[in-house]
Amino acid sequence: MCGIIGYIGNSDATRVLVDGLYRMEYRGYDSAGIALVTNDGIVLRKVAGQVRDLDHVVSTMTQRSCLGIAHTRWATHGVPNDHNAHPHMDCKGQFAVVHNGIVENYRTLKKFLEERGHTFSSETDSEVIPHLIEEFYTDDLLSAVIKACSYIEGTYGLAIITLRQPDCIVAARMGSPLVIGKGQNEYIVASDLAAIISHTDQVVYLRDGDIAEIAQDKLRIESRQMGTIAPEIQRVTWTLEQIEKSGYAHFMLKEINEQPLVMRDTIRGRLNYDEGIARLNGIADHVEQLRDADRIIIIACGTSWHAALIGEYMIESLAGIPVEVEYGSEFRYRKPVLTKGTVCIAVSQSGETADTLAALREAKRHGIPVLGICNVVGSTIARETDAGIYIHAGPEIGVASTKAFLAQIMTFALLSLLLGRLTHLSLDAGRNIIDAITRIPDQLSDLLQNLPETLIDIAKAFKDHRNFLYLGRGYNFPIALEGALKLKEISYIHAEGYPAAEMKHGPIALIDKNMPVVVIAIKDAIYNKVISNIEEIRTRSGIVIAIGSEGDESLQEFADYTIFVPKTLDHLYPLLTTLPLQLLAYYIADLKGLDVDRPRNLAKSVTVE
Ligand code: AGP
Ligand code: GLU
Repeated sequence: MCGIIGYIGNSDATRVLVDGLYRMEYRGYDSAGIALVTNDGIVLRKVAGQVRDLDHVVSTMTQRSCLGIAHTRWATHGVPNDHNAHPHMDCKGQFAVVHNGIVENYRTLKKFLEERGHTFSSETDSEVIPHLIEEFYTDDLLSAVIKACSYIEGTYGLAIITLRQPDCIVAARMGSPLVIGKGQNEYIVASDLAAIISHTDQVVYLRDGDIAEIAQDKLRIESRQMGTIAPEIQRVTWTLEQIEKSGYAHFMLKEINEQPLVMRDTIRGRLNYDEGIARLNGIADHVEQLRDADRIIIIACGTSWHAALIGEYMIESLAGIPVEVEYGSEFRYRKPVLTKGTVCIAVSQSGETADTLAALREAKRHGIPVLGICNVVGSTIARETDAGIYIHAGPEIGVASTKAFLAQIMTFALLSLLLGRLTHLSLDAGRNIIDAITRIPDQLSDLLQNLPETLIDIAKAFKDHRNFLYLGRGYNFPIALEGALKLKEISYIHAEGYPAAEMKHGPIALIDKNMPVVVIAIKDAIYNKVISNIEEIRTRSGIVIAIGSEGDESLQEFADYTIFVPKTLDHLYPLLTTLPLQLLAYYIADLKGLDVDRPRNLAKSVTVE
């Protein structure tokens, strides 16, 4: 959940490490710390707060070093304070460790170590690791780490330095991502490419069970399964510009504005108008398996789970294949019935979400084919699935997912078109969908031009409300869920999403003159039903903010506020109706003066259970 980084080379390690932490801060931001090997021993600085607080502290340091590690934390064990911040050290201050993940058996290990005389200075699970290494070290850090790891149950991404061998970093991975960047006479190891790509585009992804010994001019990898393995160097295509704010106040706003471009990238080269079909090369060998599946199970969490729900509606209605959507966290523990004809699809922006990953592994254990829909190339989920589709949204830094969500929905639009054409969609229907899909980027650009003014006004009117209700039906029911999640995540206003017709089964009791209700009421097959739901709200004096289809002037009679989106096909409306809800959440949070990109208690990729 946190960001870890290590550096060995000729440059000033403090700068490289702190700059890397800034780029990974979205992964965790409750405390930060750094450890450097210097002539005065290991120098350690740790602070509760953000990376800029650490930056302030290190700016007064006089020591220089070319070897060090650093951490930005998302606490799981022990409150965020200076003591619990990483790096953690052993009793004699000879080993420093940064850890991403959870040591599940830390109580047992701590007891074992205390009995052997070790003393602890934090409440974290992670602190057992440097003490284990101290316990097992004789003359080789790599061997001590291999032994320590064999005692740890749980997940870890680790970077370790020691005074005893001031010429290497040892890094280990089990369940938490780690990438090693190879530069000119330098190496950087980090949880995330974002910290690496300003230095090099040559990277090595570690696999679970890998332990690496990184010297300035040499990289050695020991795999738990395969012994010593040759590092496999890959080239990264993400650019530095993509991971910077480019003049926007927040990453979230930048990412919302990138959506027209992202839509073009997601569909590029994937539409064949002559045949009225989509082409998805990544899953080319599995298309028949999907077409003939008795059932597709889509596994995801959070926003990706909302995209999966839309995928379910699309695939069932366009291709007639039964689909179920599961939370990764539920699927992994609930003994699902997985028959031979089942195919799973795991959806994840980061490709590192622990619950989704564990669920896909569970499906694989049952011999079920698992495909992936991921954004981060080379991520664990992308690598562990049998095949997959990249959504090409580019790096998403804002903790609240926006552009990746739209790219996931577009990917499902492509997949359902492909499967629809292989089952019962006519050529004309296929071409009609392609026409509508290709209009989406421009429609989003127009919306981005026109919407902000109205939404800022609405945000001003409602920013101090404590509750919101979001309603939608059909393809737009998951958008109601997503709209509510966005508001909750970044503005801390309580919001609930419901299928509009479910309101009368309970939530209607909440409605009074103080309750803003956002209703997605586009002119689709169930428009009239949604209008009846709006009437029910009005009768109880609720405030209606309606998202409607362009040209539907009559909607203004029913709603206090109206926002219009251009017309499209029913199943593509979510690509347009999402945008005003993202902007509404953004403006409310911004007007409240909240940290939009780093909402409290959250982190970008949830690599712990
Ligand atoms: C989105 O705004 C959230 N922060 C969160 O729900 C996220 O979608 C979820 O953790 C899944 O992440 P993934 O797509 O990277 O697997
Ligand atoms: N479990 C560790 C802690 O609470 C690491 C958490 C993280 O991954 O940031 O300190």
